Amino acid sequence: MNTVTLNNGVKMPILGFGVYQIPEDETQAAVEAALAAGYRHLDTAAAYGNETAVGAAIKASGIEREELFITTKLWVQHAPSGSVQDDTKVAFDKSLQRLGLDYLDLYLIHQPLGDYYSEWRAMQELHQEGLIRAIGVSNFHPDRLVDLINHNQIVPAVNQVETHPFHQRAEDQKLMQEHGVQIESWGPFAEGRNDLFSNSLLSGIAEAHGKSVAQIVLRWLIQREVVAIPKSVRADRMAENFDIFDFALTEEQMSQVTTLDTEASLFFDHRDPAMVSRLGGHRID
Ligand SMILES: NC(=O)c1ccc[n+]([C@@H]2O[C@H](COP(=O)([O-])OP(=O)(O)OC[C@H]3O[C@@H](n4cnc5c(N)ncnc54)[C@H](OP(=O)(O)O)[C@@H]3O)[C@@H](O)[C@H]2O)c1
Repeated sequence: MNTVTLNNGVKMPILGFGVYQIPEDETQAAVEAALAAGYRHLDTAAAYGNETAVGAAIKASGIEREELFITTKLWVQHAPSGSVQDDTKVAFDKSLQRLGLDYLDLYLIHQPLGDYYSEWRAMQELHQEGLIRAIGVSNFHPDRLVDLINHNQIVPAVNQVETHPFHQRAEDQKLMQEHGVQIESWGPFAEGRNDLFSNSLLSGIAEAHGKSVAQIVLRWLIQREVVAIPKSVRADRMAENFDIFDFALTEEQMSQVTTLDTEASLFFDHRDPAMVSRLGGHRID
């Protein structure tokens, strides 16, 4: 298994399987198929509403727990108990129960919204208690990431951010590397936006290698040492997306892909006040 080593020594498979937008009643079958295809790294979130189904697939697979790398994410806490720190621990327990696990490999703050400093302090304690092997964040812009690092004990192991050929985040990755934070891509295919799968430059590179555009994109990410977690509900595509370890892009092809960068999100801006209110106000449970 090809892995990256996180800032606390934990090894994380560089390629995983994401389950965002897979309906709960289809998730168990999809995750079982992904595990059968060879994936050992799964990415879910409390907000996806499918942790229970992910847990059922893990159980049904019979795969040893130590062979798996399981990530889930904490949704924005609204402190019904009056303490975000306490509620974070309750939310963590619920995720663990839904997944049917007794520890997590990686727990991420899903959004840089609300009182995420209290969330982080609770997560530091859960990590110190041995319940989470690594803790990290998601959707953190560089300024938020650096501020969190400067005011806490533990440096996030991972920052999971939108990263694909149209939003490459080379500068953000450099800053993360300087602080020992591993970049992880969400939306490696930009969910197909901008006609990614028929992009002429990517199709040309794919043809040269006898591979698909999806494989070129994933290979380009992992050659940049970006962890990737593509999603598919189709077993043929799961296998295709996993089959990227027998070829390499040349330096020239790597730099050709950089020309596709628009340096902007294709989804949403975490600094847009309307989006901050909409996401921050969303409640789960
Ligand atoms: N932290 C966050 O805020 C955040 C946000 C978004 C996503 N994520 C994580 O990142 C994961 C991946 O991102 P994503 O699900 O948004 O999008 P994605 O992986 O970029 O794209 C998924 C789309 O690509 C299609 N696809 C997959 N493999 C393909 C292939 N080989 N050829 C052609 N089409 C293919 C899928 O269709 P089919 O399913 O029909 O094959 C689906 O429509 C998520 O599942 C989630 O775990 C995190």
